Amino acid sequence: MAAYAIGTLPPVGEVPPTMFAHVIRSNRLGEPKDAFKVEEVPTPTPKRGEVLIAVMAAGINYNNVWAARGIPIDVIAARQKGGEPEDFHVGGSDASGIVYAVGEGVTKVKVGDEVAIHHGWWDADDPWVLAGKDPMIARSSKTWGYQTNYGSFGQFSIVQEHQCLPKAPSLSWEEAAASTLCGTTAYRMMFGWAPHDTKKGDVVLVWGGSGGVGSMAIQLAKAVGAIPVAVVSDDERGEFCIKLGAKGYINRNDFSHWGTPPHWTDEAGQKTWTAGARAFGAKIWEIVGEKKDPAIVIEHPGEATVPTSIFVCEPGGMVVICAGTTGYSAVVDLRYHWTRQKRFQGSHGTNDEQAIAFNKMLTSGAIHPALGEVLAFDEIPHAHQRMHEGDLALGNTAILIGAASKGLGKK
Ligand SMILES: NC(=O)c1ccc[n+]([C@@H]2O[C@H](COP(=O)([O-])OP(=O)(O)OC[C@H]3O[C@@H](n4cnc5c(N)ncnc54)[C@H](OP(=O)(O)O)[C@@H]3O)[C@@H](O)[C@H]2O)c1
Repeated sequence: MAAYAIGTLPPVGEVPPTMFAHVIRSNRLGEPKDAFKVEEVPTPTPKRGEVLIAVMAAGINYNNVWAARGIPIDVIAARQKGGEPEDFHVGGSDASGIVYAVGEGVTKVKVGDEVAIHHGWWDADDPWVLAGKDPMIARSSKTWGYQTNYGSFGQFSIVQEHQCLPKAPSLSWEEAAASTLCGTTAYRMMFGWAPHDTKKGDVVLVWGGSGGVGSMAIQLAKAVGAIPVAVVSDDERGEFCIKLGAKGYINRNDFSHWGTPPHWTDEAGQKTWTAGARAFGAKIWEIVGEKKDPAIVIEHPGEATVPTSIFVCEPGGMVVICAGTTGYSAVVDLRYHWTRQKRFQGSHGTNDEQAIAFNKMLTSGAIHPALGEVLAFDEIPHAHQRMHEGDLALGNTAILIGAASKGLGKK
């Protein structure tokens, strides 16, 4: 056996031929607890512009719940269709670690650098990227560790040079690994779509306020003087959101108008649905202390909540969405959308500029990683199963890989 034990690493710069990784394969997609298995696989070699990272800690994200279940796509089959040979997937889209090797042409990082990784991946020679446009909208853009192999659930990971951010010195390895994917995603949602960038005094409605995206969105809103209002499913989650900076929280279980509203020709049904949505909007006013609607709505549940999000959004405001966890077939009541001139904006991933800005806020202490739980490498399958079942710790969850124990890496 050539791989090192989990929690140990060779001297910096020495790359072992094989490594341990949590791997999914097409023939075992399904429940996350069964889809991930530890395998010893060849340590990948960085190509031009790429960097090999020894992963000290990884973050758990919803995208590898999707990858494990094969919904909406089998990521391995998709990659093979694109010409990649590997019949396995090492997922993981959040990491902190140490640079162990660099590919040709890499100049911005060197062996030994301590880094946190953002999840935006694109081809440097994509015409869209070469034209200087937002690379996260390029055809070649991908989510590292979801649509690319060798994410952070292995001892070594392959990233592109530009994904490397300086690790915040005051954070431990697990803190530095926990929040970059959700945090940079929230940052792009809130500051990437001018003129609807979040401003002082804006009410920001945050669905799933105690989750990965939500816990970061609340802090980002608070940091710029906006007024975050969280939506949660119980009081414990709500109190967690208040500690993060939310002005208050709404328990979504107090309402029942979720999902697709009745067709507009069904007058009685519409009346009932609208009464539910109005009561939800009134709860936002009660928390804010005045009749002020959200200028920004941070959406990700999707089908269950989009009609309400658009209904309560301020005229001229923006509902910005990065997922459809409850389903993809959301209904938009066009009357509210056009007459009140609202924006419904898709948002995905992060570009370098946004990731750097987010990382600076993390490094300065303006926001923190909202780390809820730190787990061992062996717990990767169950952590994803718990996330799938809505049972993961509040905030973000990290996994120790190269780091032998919690609390290491702080300077
Ligand atoms: N596009 C991107 O770049 C990107 C990046 C990050 C994440 N995402 C996606 O965003 C979604 C959320 O990610 P996350 O990391 O925040 O997940 P998470 O930590 O599991 O949080 C999701 C939250 O959604 C809430 N929720 C669940 N069912 C709901 C429903 N029916 N109605 C309203 N709220 C509901 C839950 O809060 P309560 O039960 O307390 O309401 C939960 O805390 C996932 O689908 C993920 O894949 C996309």
